[in-house]
Amino acid sequence: MTTFTINGRAVNVDAAPDTPLLWVIREHLKLTGTKFGCGIAQCGACTVHIDGETTRSCVTWLEDVEGRQVTTIEGLSPDASHPLQKAWIAEQVPQCGYCQSGQIMQAAALLESTPNPTREQIIEHMDGNICRCGTYIRIISAIQRAAREG
Ligand code: FES
Ligand code: FES
Repeated sequence: MTTFTINGRAVNVDAAPDTPLLWVIREHLKLTGTKFGCGIAQCGACTVHIDGETTRSCVTWLEDVEGRQVTTIEGLSPDASHPLQKAWIAEQVPQCGYCQSGQIMQAAALLESTPNPTREQIIEHMDGNICRCGTYIRIISAIQRAAREG
């Protein structure tokens, strides 16, 4: 049994210690907003926060989160009213949508540490999150809008 907190809720998970956190989130806890893209920390689709830090959950093992706080896209805000979620809708960012929860979780960590990032800081921070639909320009606009209107 591994015990940790996810989106403010304490959970016990009965799985092998080396189970990828992404599988635990999706298969054991049924939180399917976090996506599988590459499985090798190269795309960002599986991004969650662990103790407030962005983490690729596909290469994080269950044993690594014992006693820690995990936040997924479902826990970013209780009613989808996080400034980034509002900005994402206003800028109509998603195309297929597959990468977008990872994009938002990555962006949320940036605004937490840097509430008014420059365009260059946004590009640098978001660099590891791939979007096969090429929504990058709208992602930047949405982050700028969230910083402005947050
Ligand atoms: S699925 Fe984890 S980085 Fe691609
Ligand atoms: S919106 Fe399709 S992969 Fe990003």
